[in-house]
Amino acid sequence: MSEVGPLPSEASSVTVIRDASGRYFDSFVVEVEPTPLPANGKALGIDMGLASLAVTSDGEKMSQRNLKHKQKGSNRSDRPSQEEAPKAPHGSTQWCPLRAVRTMTTQSQGWLAISTEGFAAMNAARPPEHLVKELVQNALDSFAEGQPGAIQLRYGHDGHRFQVECCDNGSGINALDDLRVVYLTHKTDSHLKRGRFGRGFKEALCIADAALVESQGEQLQFLQEQGQRVTRRSTIATAPLRGTRVAMQMRWPPETAEQLDRYFHRFLVPEGIVLEVNGARIIPRAVEHRVQVSLTTELYDPVSQSWKKPKRRTDIQLVRTRSDETPTIYELGIPVAALEWSVPYHCDIQQRVPMNPNRDAVASGYAVQLHVACLPALLDAMDAETIKQDWVGHAGRRCDAAVQQRIVERAFGSNIARSVPRMGSRHFDEDARELGVQVINTAQTSGGFREMLRQFVPSAQEVVRKDEIVKAQTAAADGFAVATAADPADQRHHWMARQGGRERVERCLAFAVWFCQQLVNSCPGRQSAVSGQLTLNRDPAATLYAHWSERNVLTLALDQNCFWQAPLGPEALQVLIHEAAHAMNMHHGLEFRQELERLAGVAAALMLQRAEEIRRQFPDLF
Ligand SMILES: Nc1ncnc2c1ncn2[C@@H]1O[C@H](COP(=O)(O)OP(=O)(O)OP(=O)(O)O)[C@@H](O)[C@H]1O
Ligand SMILES: [Mg+2]
Repeated sequence: MSEVGPLPSEASSVTVIRDASGRYFDSFVVEVEPTPLPANGKALGIDMGLASLAVTSDGEKMSQRNLKHKQKGSNRSDRPSQEEAPKAPHGSTQWCPLRAVRTMTTQSQGWLAISTEGFAAMNAARPPEHLVKELVQNALDSFAEGQPGAIQLRYGHDGHRFQVECCDNGSGINALDDLRVVYLTHKTDSHLKRGRFGRGFKEALCIADAALVESQGEQLQFLQEQGQRVTRRSTIATAPLRGTRVAMQMRWPPETAEQLDRYFHRFLVPEGIVLEVNGARIIPRAVEHRVQVSLTTELYDPVSQSWKKPKRRTDIQLVRTRSDETPTIYELGIPVAALEWSVPYHCDIQQRVPMNPNRDAVASGYAVQLHVACLPALLDAMDAETIKQDWVGHAGRRCDAAVQQRIVERAFGSNIARSVPRMGSRHFDEDARELGVQVINTAQTSGGFREMLRQFVPSAQEVVRKDEIVKAQTAAADGFAVATAADPADQRHHWMARQGGRERVERCLAFAVWFCQQLVNSCPGRQSAVSGQLTLNRDPAATLYAHWSERNVLTLALDQNCFWQAPLGPEALQVLIHEAAHAMNMHHGLEFRQELERLAGVAAALMLQRAEEIRRQFPDLF
């Protein structure tokens, strides 16, 4: 036991406390000079635990809801109605100044007090780990930003009560009495503190059987004596410890300890802080990505005396989830809400996270801000299935263009086109597929993806048209008339000679044009003039036989023997029928194949019915 020094006055009582780790503490109650407040003509009556939370001297009854509007440091107006204290029975306006005043040792500043029972009832449903968290949160907040610090949390059942003790070596508490004022917070000046509602400590306290706070050589004891809750303030005779010690006795069953173990092992201990839980250090976890971003936070504005939600630049630390964890949003190391995404990371936000007053859900839209900010860092490690999830589409449409393009490419590939409805005989989806393009039906993708696809991916029609233009340009650029190949040094001249000479080539081409013209004419309403030209495969390995342009220009490859050596043979005619079918459809879809069959019939009939005419017109080709 430590040695006791001289007390400021004779102790009126001594309390011996044994804490969770088996240590004993003596607490002496001594007289201290009260500091009277300036008279303001107002008196306070408190009806603790009865119908109204408080009654002012002019008879006004205070419920939880109107309390908060008058309380320093709290301007929240969105408290859920289930948190309201029960209303006073109708007609009960009696002002009762006596009962609770007995429990107060010093005069209080302000008009309001609060019923411990009422507040306890409000917090009864909160899980133990969330109440103990409040103590650790206060300890974390007691360290100056970026400064090292140590927190020792101990808890366990001693056979009688569940003991909780939280010690820190932080700033300590200047005005211990402030701890009793619900909604009074000293954390209005920074969005880098976790606390802000001025109620965390009291929430845990109000359901405790007894509690003790020690800081800066002073001690506040919360006791129950003869059925009354009593608060005693005293000076500690032994050398004051650095920081703060908070101890509470709770009516929790022993197995609460495992619940707390699980909870605190999920903490992401901030850099420079040592957090020990029942003597074992919570090991800091590696940050895999740090994302710098401007995010909505919460900050008190002294000018308007209200809480605002401005944006501030901050870091998001991405920490890999363990196998037993689900992705979670952390506020400066403390888990605050589930994070709806399908990547194995927690987001630890290095500033206040905007939350509902119960601190169990983040403000709507906040999660999307996180998704948008983190997507660029995560994209590379995501597989195509993950990238196709709705949350990626939803967030993706708010990312910048380069990120959106990466999302689309990772999710759908790069050689893609958007599906379009068929237009008459043209079925561009089929045509695009034939070009090796993957066609995506945007109607089957979620909203965000649909928007991105529309912005960054051409339609099947655009892809097909572009291909047609390129091919037509190539054919036009390489195409030449028979007459132009006159120069013997020219390769074209050489090929012309090889295929039987200029005249032969001219005649074969004339037949091909005539034949195709007959086929084109067979389709009512589509008749237009067919013309012909030659081309040479530039690459000897290429096998371009022929090309049909949208303007019905038939191009035949001079280096393909069939047209010149057997112009009426099956191979040449097959190519010509194929090309003429392109007059109806530039690509090779179902309609094209049907047109091919039709033209095969037309060609057969032509050869039978007009055999004489053909022989007369092209005798040299037989
Ligand atoms: N361990 C501690 N070290 C230093 N100050 C503390 C400590 N615990 C409590 N306090 C002081 O007591 C005040 C009240 O704490 P309480 O937990 O009730 O509210 P809060 O932390 O301000 O807000 P919240 O309701 O969000 O927790 C704090 O603002 C802080 O000034
Ligand atoms: Mg707090």
